[in-house]
Amino acid sequence: MTQRLVYLETYGCQMNEYDSELVRTILKQHSYQFVDDLSQADVVMLNTCSVRDNANRKIYNRVHQVRQLSRRPRVYVGILGCMATNFRKQLLDDHKLKIDFIAGPDSYKQLPRLIEDLCDTGEKRFDVTLSELETYSDVYPTRAEGVNAWIAIMRGCNNYCTFCVVPFTRGRERSRDPENIVEEVKRLVAAGFSQVTLLGQNVNSYRYDEYDFAALVKMVSDVPGVKRIRFTSPHPKDFPMHLLKLMAERDNICKQIHLPLQAGNSRVLDKMNRTYSKEEFLQLVDAIRKLMPSVSLTTDIIVGFPTETAEEFLDTVDVVNRVRFEAAFIFKYSERPNTLASRRFPDDVSEAEKKRRIMILNSLQDSISLSEHQKLMGTTQRVLVEKVGTKKSLTEIQTRTDGGVIVILPPGKQKPGEILDVCITDATRNVMKGEALVTTPA
Ligand code: SAH
Ligand code: SF4
Ligand code: F3S
Repeated sequence: MTQRLVYLETYGCQMNEYDSELVRTILKQHSYQFVDDLSQADVVMLNTCSVRDNANRKIYNRVHQVRQLSRRPRVYVGILGCMATNFRKQLLDDHKLKIDFIAGPDSYKQLPRLIEDLCDTGEKRFDVTLSELETYSDVYPTRAEGVNAWIAIMRGCNNYCTFCVVPFTRGRERSRDPENIVEEVKRLVAAGFSQVTLLGQNVNSYRYDEYDFAALVKMVSDVPGVKRIRFTSPHPKDFPMHLLKLMAERDNICKQIHLPLQAGNSRVLDKMNRTYSKEEFLQLVDAIRKLMPSVSLTTDIIVGFPTETAEEFLDTVDVVNRVRFEAAFIFKYSERPNTLASRRFPDDVSEAEKKRRIMILNSLQDSISLSEHQKLMGTTQRVLVEKVGTKKSLTEIQTRTDGGVIVILPPGKQKPGEILDVCITDATRNVMKGEALVTTPA
């Protein structure tokens, strides 16, 4: 078999990053070779996102670019990921795009066969079947170097938030065997990783036999050598008290929670099918902060969901003001095919109004992020060294607090994976600066 050169580009969330690591392993096992230079590749694959319309458009533009940049006589272009499932027909029928193959999130083990068939016959190939079982627990991802390893513990989503395309692109929820996850975590520690980030579309609805998410996190936390555990993305509905208590008790579970609010108004939340009200969200935040006073909370927000009035939007502003998130990712509502919202609720908030709302929230959040970081000036923070070298300097040291904020240290002897205490000396809304505290030997 001729050795094919493959180039893979990843868009979207961490789950897609992780899936690309799985794809690398699968194709390498079939003697494909990965290259960093797109123009040299025989096969170019884009692992795509479909969560908002602009994510789709980016991919269409990129496919045209790929064809222009390629210096091979014949380049095969494939679409993987979330656009594959939802836009298979449009992608295959688009004669200008000329997509050669498509593989959905549960079909990556079929990739070698799809590509070989395509090369043999010259005919388009696709597999976008969604599985109720596939968890890729038998594939060990080809991970990027660094201190953090992603590990998917569940896949799919059963929540059907009415705006969201993910249940359609990634199918039903299914969780991986906890023993198998713990084995992988042990291997990761042995390979030198200091931090594991547990991944899932709805990570805290993990369930395998009698094991819930808290039981799994406890098992991972017990693995010797795991310095830090993070997880993303959780849903506010799955934070039982025993999970919060476990997080509070254990030093190696980071006190950071991404708590997607989506909207502050209870009527809108109900229409979104988020299953909590404004008050319940605020109560959850109180419960979290009571057990973990230093916790860092981040969130996702959608502005301009169908029928959201200007007054109802003020409830979102109110929650942002009250909770004071560390950071917020704010999006304009984008209608997605197949979702309940697209079938039932016309996208009736104007683009200009969505823009107005997003600007209000972004500037509010910027000032909150800045003042929360400034409050940390002069305090001692425990950080994990992530890497030596930043965009600005080859010798500065990039570290991260337990809460997830980047702290840059001046050049020094610290090595990636090391944990140390630093004093915060400067703060902006995105990053902080610090200095290592010199500990006097006892
Ligand atoms: N599973 C994650 C979310 C994945 S999508 C969770 O439940 O939190 C990431 C974010 O994109 C969502 O939290 C939401 O804020 C945003 N998003 C999803 N669908 C969207 C849409 N149709 N329009 C605008 N933003 C959307
Ligand atoms: Fe989408 Fe809701 Fe599932 Fe998150 S929980 S992936 S927003 S349907
Ligand atoms: Fe995008 Fe799919 Fe992730 S739609 S956000 S890549 S789950």
